[in-house]
Amino acid sequence: MSLLDSLVARALAVTPRSVVGRVARRYIAGETLPEALATIRGLAARGATTTVDVLGEFIRDFSEAEATAREYESVLDALVRERLPVNVSVKLTAFGLLIDRERCLALVRSLARRAADGGGFVRIDMEDSSCTDATLAVARTLRSEGLPVGVVLQAYLRRTGDDARALAAEGMPVRLCKGIYREPPEVAFQERGEVRASYSRNLRVLLNGSGRVAIATHDEVLVDDARAALHEWSVPRERYEYQMLLGVRERLRDQLLGEGHPLRVYVPFGRAWYGYSVRRLRENPAIAGHVFRAMFGR
Ligand code: FDA
Repeated sequence: MSLLDSLVARALAVTPRSVVGRVARRYIAGETLPEALATIRGLAARGATTTVDVLGEFIRDFSEAEATAREYESVLDALVRERLPVNVSVKLTAFGLLIDRERCLALVRSLARRAADGGGFVRIDMEDSSCTDATLAVARTLRSEGLPVGVVLQAYLRRTGDDARALAAEGMPVRLCKGIYREPPEVAFQERGEVRASYSRNLRVLLNGSGRVAIATHDEVLVDDARAALHEWSVPRERYEYQMLLGVRERLRDQLLGEGHPLRVYVPFGRAWYGYSVRRLRENPAIAGHVFRAMFGR
């Protein structure tokens, strides 16, 4: 961790809400569903599809998971009504994974059925490594029931080679990202070069499988590497898409769209933006560094 990054991470504890808000505004599509819908329409006009994330706080009892599920249902209904891409991203801990795994599964199943009715899709985000097995199990169960769900693999995890081979063979739709949580060296590669090499390797494993692959990165080295693999293997548009976070590397995003690649933007919104932003920044001070530089660097 660089000195700047650790200073920024510590400074967050005393950073006023308004300052966090100013930084977060670019990365979050507001507090309300109408604000998120306006952002989605704007992205659609630029040729990008979207996946919606309803921001949530840590939950303490199952009624909060049920409330989250209801919010997601309203999002799906609005997306269908407005003829926007019916695609949401969910975190299983917000659906009660750590409280009651069976009830969590039931909640996500019911959401995935609703998405299916609207011709949509539910992506199950990947959280820290203590959740990996349970998250993959939920995704596999729902997929085996014919529901339109996909999951996420994190290139920094040492286990990802095995998971990628298995999921590629199963035809599971997979989003490949680097991974955002802080993990110990036994569990995850720590060096940038190792994470990139793992990403590049596993992307090829997934492209060789039969599921749709989401290439989620803003790292130009990996974007170029993916572009080369897609070209070399003549991968059809139905088999892949690039994915990027709202507000990040917009020029690169527009360049990929201009080249004709399918690209989806991850659109987080909700009242819990403050806790989410601070937690994200603390979880990965390197990202806090990006935000800090974005704020003061121009
Ligand atoms: P890298 O971190 O090297 O970033 C490349 C460049 O992009 C940086 O130099 C910077 O300029 C810019 N950048 C990247 N992230 C930024 C940010 N947040 N703010 C400002 N600038 C930024 N992780 C996870 O563990 N589970 C998950 O389910 C997901 N889901 C997910 C979905 C989508 C669509 C994306 C794009 C990413 C995720 N992630 C994730 C996050 C992912 O694991 C990773 O932490 C970030 O994408 C940053 O890694 P990059 O590959 O972009 O490279």
